[in-house]
Amino acid sequence: MTSELLTTSFGLETTPKNEIHSKTSELRIKIAALDAELAKNFKAQFSTAPFLSRKTVSFQGNKGKPAYGWYKYKEAFSAGLVEYFLGSYKGRISGKVLDPFAGIGTTLFAASSQGISADGIELLPIGQEIIRARLLSERELTSDDITTIERWITFRPWQKCSDRVPFSTIRITENAYPPEAVEAIERYRGALQQESEKIQAILRLALLCILEDISYTRKDGQYLRWDARSGKRRPGTKAFNKGKILAFDTAITAKLKEILSDICDAESPVTLFPVNQIAEDIRLFNGSCLEVLPTLETASYGAVMTSPPYCNRYDYTRTYALELAMLGLTQAEVLSLRQEMLSCTVENREKDLLKICPQWTRFIEAANQQKLLQTIYTYLKHEKTSGNLNNNGIPRMVRGYFSEMACVMGECARVLKPNARLFMVNDNVRYAGVSISVDMILSDIAQALGFEVEKILVVPGKKGNSSQQMGAYGREPLRKCVYVWRKR
Ligand SMILES: C[S@@+](CC[C@H](N)C(=O)[O-])C[C@H]1O[C@@H](n2cnc3c(N)ncnc32)[C@H](O)[C@@H]1O
Repeated sequence: MTSELLTTSFGLETTPKNEIHSKTSELRIKIAALDAELAKNFKAQFSTAPFLSRKTVSFQGNKGKPAYGWYKYKEAFSAGLVEYFLGSYKGRISGKVLDPFAGIGTTLFAASSQGISADGIELLPIGQEIIRARLLSERELTSDDITTIERWITFRPWQKCSDRVPFSTIRITENAYPPEAVEAIERYRGALQQESEKIQAILRLALLCILEDISYTRKDGQYLRWDARSGKRRPGTKAFNKGKILAFDTAITAKLKEILSDICDAESPVTLFPVNQIAEDIRLFNGSCLEVLPTLETASYGAVMTSPPYCNRYDYTRTYALELAMLGLTQAEVLSLRQEMLSCTVENREKDLLKICPQWTRFIEAANQQKLLQTIYTYLKHEKTSGNLNNNGIPRMVRGYFSEMACVMGECARVLKPNARLFMVNDNVRYAGVSISVDMILSDIAQALGFEVEKILVVPGKKGNSSQQMGAYGREPLRKCVYVWRKR
């Protein structure tokens, strides 16, 4: 029988189609066998955790919790989750907690409320700004400041402000707001210049919190979705209507009221904290954890509680583009930020990890030695050359993700005190029809880096796949887990 010839996506080589299929099947069988072997090794550590729910491990669990809901950071986990783990291990945590992917600071604030000091590292300026403004709102405001914010709610000084301060846009945020919203934002930015630094920070916080609501966009995982009223439409997509687009005045006054009510209802009166005592128990490092972790002292932390970006192609620099532009980032700065983020998008280029820290050879090697991961790399490369991947950047992204995570994990092992725990929330993912057991692969690498894997807690209710994966390969539920590792 003559073999059918298939041109690869590059059009350079030809390989018989049946050979490609048999190689694909062979690799899939190998992956399934290695996955089953790891599952057997971790059988004692796996358990379904009925006390965890999809709500607890996500931002939704913060609903109704003062301050945590000000800014809708969909990638956040809940304060309840942090309180649960820190509470359960309380007697066994001695020293500060660290979150190398701090987001909007859930770990930091929840730990602090339990009397545990916390350090966080965050690269995305929107996360940094929310943490900074929240610290300030909780610890530095005086009753005069509260009166000033009340005045803003009642008299809306921006309406009469003639001094308009424009804001920058980047390519993907052009025409993101109705013209009347642009005018109101500019007047608001003009009016807030009359206030003290502290009040400005609170007013800017409120503005950042409402941008999505007053815009034509909706945050949607990998990108921003555009309402048809904007006149923009992604090619090949259906017209989208996000529902009500809030008027600026309605949205900003509601947000300022919410912030004020949370501050005033807080258990501790706001004036309790003298101005010079800001955040002694919470410290934030602005920057990439790949750069900051090597500067932290060895054996200095009592626990790590974190959730890294998932290996799911979600691009924070796109999803949070409105906020980044409002914070003044230029197009070039956003592009460079995208490259600095932990690799989890198809656009991430390979990072020179050994240039960041020459001591990381052992960590990278631990990822390179992981057998299941190696076979997944081979499979993805094969699917790429066979033209079966919907994006050719997927193999590089997956490789980058695990190498960088190995370095972060190795550094966490270094900075943790002996016997201290690391708690991590993460999702498994699926590419080219193959589920990648991120939970077992990272846990296996963690063992090589000096951790004992105590538990892999499976969150009940499995997550589905992307519509692309489901359409092409059928449904296969994906695990979401919390890993509990102990530094040996
Ligand atoms: C899943 S979110 C964590 C959310 C956090 N648990 C919370 O409750 O807000 C992952 C975070 O990692 C941040 N991040 C990505 N790459 C980073 C890097 N190289 N260094 C530090 N933070 C990074 C992202 O900006 C994002 O805020």
